[in-house]
Amino acid sequence: MSSQGWWREGVLYQIYPRSFADSDGDGVGDLRGIAERLDHLDRLGVDGIWLNPTMPSPNDDWGYDVADYCDVHPDLGTLEDLDALVAAAGERGIRVLLDLVPNHTSSEHAWFVDAVSGRDAEFRDYYVWADPGPDGGPPNNWESNFGGSAWQWHEPTGQYYLNNFLPTQPDLNWWNEDVREAFDDVLRFWFDRGVAGFRIDVCHAIVKDSELRDDPAVTPEDHPEVRRRTVKQVFSMNRPEVHDVLRRWRAVADGYDPRAILVGETYVLNLDTLMPYYGNGEDELNLAFNFLFVHADFDADEMRTIVAGVEEKLPRGAWPVYTGSNHDAGRLTTRWCGDDPRRARAALLMLLTLRGTPVLYYGDELGLPEVPTDWRTALDPVARRTGDPSRNRDPCRTPMPWSAEPGGGFTTAEATPWLPFGDLAAHNVADQAADPASTLLLTRDLIALRRREPALRTGAYAELDAPAGAWAWRRGDELATALNLSDAAVELGGITGTVEIGTDRGRDGEAVPGSLALGPGEGALVRLG
Ligand code: GLC
Repeated sequence: MSSQGWWREGVLYQIYPRSFADSDGDGVGDLRGIAERLDHLDRLGVDGIWLNPTMPSPNDDWGYDVADYCDVHPDLGTLEDLDALVAAAGERGIRVLLDLVPNHTSSEHAWFVDAVSGRDAEFRDYYVWADPGPDGGPPNNWESNFGGSAWQWHEPTGQYYLNNFLPTQPDLNWWNEDVREAFDDVLRFWFDRGVAGFRIDVCHAIVKDSELRDDPAVTPEDHPEVRRRTVKQVFSMNRPEVHDVLRRWRAVADGYDPRAILVGETYVLNLDTLMPYYGNGEDELNLAFNFLFVHADFDADEMRTIVAGVEEKLPRGAWPVYTGSNHDAGRLTTRWCGDDPRRARAALLMLLTLRGTPVLYYGDELGLPEVPTDWRTALDPVARRTGDPSRNRDPCRTPMPWSAEPGGGFTTAEATPWLPFGDLAAHNVADQAADPASTLLLTRDLIALRRREPALRTGAYAELDAPAGAWAWRRGDELATALNLSDAAVELGGITGTVEIGTDRGRDGEAVPGSLALGPGEGALVRLG
C-alpha cells in the first residue's frame, strides 16, 4: 500500500469510546480499554480508528458539547492514556483520528462563560449573538436540529445566541478570525501529539449566513430527512464560505504530514452539494461522508443509483467513502437489514468491495443489531426533546459484546454498563472468532482480501447487468460482487469464474459457470476467469 494513500486503500473503524471496552470497572468504556483491545482491530485488519469525542464535556450531548478542546474527558482517561493509545496503535500500523467539534462548544467552555458575562466581554464575538426580531421574538426562523428555535434568549445581556443543537451547545461565530486561529491551534495541538487527523463534526454547517436570512420552507420534493423539519437549512448551514475554512485546515494538516486526513460529517442529502466538500480533489476534505447513501434503503436500485452518481460526480483526485452505521443514524443490521443476519452480511460485502474507503462502526463486524431502549428515559437527549422515539440514539451506542460471560468482556461482572447489552449469547466476539461461518470471519476475510488484491482497493468500478432486485459490479478485471437484495431467488447471467468469498461461506470455491444463483439477501464475490 502506498503510504500517501493509506486512507484510500485502507479500512476505517469508528469507535464509540464509552462503549468499546472498560478497563477500570466503572461500566464506561475508556482509552485504556481500547488499547487493551488493539489485537481485535489488528486481526480485523483496519488501518485507522476514529474515536467519537474524547474531550472534557458535561455530556449533555455525550461529548459533542466540548468544554476544553485540548484535553481528555476524565471518564475516558488522561492525555497520557491518549498518547499511549496513539503509540500502541501506531506500532500495529493503525492510525488514530479524533472527533473535532468546531460548530459549537459546550456552554461550560471558558469562551462561552466569558461571552455571557457582558456585551463587551473578550470572547463575546466568538459566538453568534443577535438582537430580537421586529416582533420581539427570535431574530429569524432558524430551527435547531434538536427541535424548537435555534435561538436562545439571554436575559442578562438582552440578546439571543444561536444554538443549532442544544441550548447548552452555543454555535461558534466562524466569521471571527480569532475563532479560526483558535482552531488552527487546536489542530496543531493534536497533530503534535501524533493523531492522524480528524473526523469533523457537522463540518458543512459551521459558517452561517452573515445576514441571518430566514430559511425557506421545506417542499414535498425534499429528502425525507429534510422533511422532518419545517424549514430547509439554506442560510443556517452549508454556506459557501465554509470552504475557506476547510482549505485552511487542509493547509494546517498538510503542514504536518501529507498523510494526515480530514474526514467530514458532511450531512447534506444530495450529491451535487456534497462534492464541493472535496474542493479541487486535494485542497479540502479527504473524505466527505455520504449521507444519501447512509439513509438510502438497502435496495438494489437505490444503492446502485447513488454509487453511479458518486462515480460520475466525484471531482478528479477525490475518493468515495461508504458507511452503513454510525452513532447517530443507527446500525446497518437493524436499519438496512431489519435484523436479518444474511442481509447484514451482504451489506458488509458491499461496503468492503465498493470503490471507496469503507468505514465500519464498532460491532458491524459482528452484524450487531441495535438494542431497543425506552426513549422516555434515554440518555441521549434528542428523542426526549423532540418527542420522536425514532430519534433515540441509545440503541446504536450500546457496549461492544466481547463474550457471553457476565459483563460481556466489556466490563466486570459486578459493574452496570452505562447502556444495556443486547443478547450477549447471540452476538459476541469470542464465539464468532471461533466459528469459520461467522460474520466476524467474513469481515476479516474480506478485509484481508482487500489487502492482497489491488483490484479491490483501487480497481475501477463498473456496473454489470443484473435482474430486478440484484446489483452487481466489477472491480478491475479480476473480481465481481453480486448482491441479491430482493426477497426472491435470482439468477445473474454473464458471470464466469469461482466464488472467492460468499456470504454463505459454504459456497467459497464454488464454480460459477456463466451464471450465479443467489438466494434472498445473499451475496458473493466472484473471481472472474
Ligand atoms: C453530529 C454528531 C452528533 C451530535 C451533533 C451535535 O451530528 O454526530 O452525535 O449530536 O453533531 O454535535
